[in-house]
Amino acid sequence: MRLLVTGGLGFIGSAFIRLVVRERPDAQIVNLDAMTYAGNPANLRDIEHDPRYSFVRGEIGDPAAVAQAIGEGIDAIVNFAAETHVDRSILDPEAFLRTDILGTHTLLEAVHERRIARYLQVSTDEVYGDVASGHSREEDPLRPRSPYSASKAGGDLQVLAYRATFGSPVLVTRGSNTYGPYQYPEKLIPLFVTNLLDDEPVPLYGDGQQIRDWLHVEDHARGILHVLEHGALGEIYNLGGGNPRTNLEITRRLVEGCDRSMESHVRHVADRLGHDRRYAIDSSKAMALGWQPRVDFEDGLTKTIAWYRNHEAWWRPLKSGEFLEYYRRQYAHREEESVGE
Ligand code: DAU
Repeated sequence: MRLLVTGGLGFIGSAFIRLVVRERPDAQIVNLDAMTYAGNPANLRDIEHDPRYSFVRGEIGDPAAVAQAIGEGIDAIVNFAAETHVDRSILDPEAFLRTDILGTHTLLEAVHERRIARYLQVSTDEVYGDVASGHSREEDPLRPRSPYSASKAGGDLQVLAYRATFGSPVLVTRGSNTYGPYQYPEKLIPLFVTNLLDDEPVPLYGDGQQIRDWLHVEDHARGILHVLEHGALGEIYNLGGGNPRTNLEITRRLVEGCDRSMESHVRHVADRLGHDRRYAIDSSKAMALGWQPRVDFEDGLTKTIAWYRNHEAWWRPLKSGEFLEYYRRQYAHREEESVGE
């Protein structure tokens, strides 16, 4: 199988490439990545010289870069490339529309023109919006509420429109909150762990009662590969971890895991604008296809904390330069509006 992976220097994309290299010895992988702030060559250091792997630097919205990555031809595209951070989409939405909608469109055009046999769009449970009760299923209406999730929903709808209009061989996966090694430290778990290891406070938004469903990155990568290989064309598959937790529960666990205390290290700061309270997806369709998460959450979280503890050389350089400027923009006003304990 000749595979084009886009965004393969990111968190989930790099886990997927490592998985394919490990478990599909016949696969050839081309990685097309724009190397924006979260695309990190260090994520694939261990396989970058593997003869089955090659790299093209470019944006998915650039038809010339996509053509270069496709080269003589490929069998499948898996699209991980995206702007992914909700808080950044509130500060600066335009890049999200460009990559998550227009970038997806450029890839779909290539799939159509080059007659590529399979295209998998990596999407998110956030497209269903806030779910007060019950669990979202694949046929539920999309009610995205942030510039990020609206952009991802726009991408999904383009993918499904190409199926309906041109019969394109597409698949969509919608994953829940993902955690594990190599996650850029803007997201809740790596941000809090690295702050705590540095003896710095952690900014918990609002009352901390928001619920997310946590999925280990290995399980997420495995789910995407499973859907790519076994999914029915035109179908959507939810991939949920089955580990719903409030942010406060997660914070308590991380604080304990880093040997700190809630009183001294947790700041209750101003909430995210339009913050979704709860995501919850029903993954029975992917399970009926033969996938299920394997990593026990408590064990996975303990090992994730240990990974950041033991890989300071990986994350330390990321928490400088652009990150510090972003952190100031994102959090300075929040601390001022701190809501206390
Ligand atoms: O649900 C899947 C989604 O999970 C993905 O589609 C997104 O790309 C990914 O970023 C993630 O979105 P979230 O907004 O849920 O992830 P984040 O790690 O930013 O936040 C998790 C929760 O923690 C959320 O309720 C906001 C809260 N939070 C986050 C940060 C960064 C805080 O309380 N304080 C923080 O500083």
